[in-house]
Amino acid sequence: MINPEQRSAIIQAAMEVRSKAYAPYSNYAVGAALLARSGKIFSGVNVENSSYPLTLCAERAAVVKAVSEGEREFIAIAVATEDGGSPCGACRQVLAEFGLDLIVLMINAQGDVIHEVILRELLPYAFYLRHENP
Ligand code: THU
Repeated sequence: MINPEQRSAIIQAAMEVRSKAYAPYSNYAVGAALLARSGKIFSGVNVENSSYPLTLCAERAAVVKAVSEGEREFIAIAVATEDGGSPCGACRQVLAEFGLDLIVLMINAQGDVIHEVILRELLPYAFYLRHENP
């Protein structure tokens, strides 16, 4: 569960950090804000590269920051784009590593919640190797 304050906080954080996206090739700026069980929020943006496949998505940037700070349990992620776009398959898989019960909020440039889903719905029959169910 996510309380209304946390929900507003991650939506706001995702929208704000989106301005820091480095997306000179696609011009599709993405901001993500990941809420850890500790209450801390970790943000990330997409970081593109002239060697296109090296581009890092905003969601994975946020996960890498959070895990690097010792966080492994997450409650929700807000993803802000122009049109409320959905996390890509690679990001779904990376998020799934830390649990399929993650709440995913997809936010457009106006701050509207275009979709609110559970990661399990975005990645059915997820692949995992650990013994516990993610
Ligand atoms: N992108 C993300 O940051 N997250 C996603 O889940 C989908 C795609 C970025 C990658 C690239 O910089 C731009 O959006 C266009 O694909």
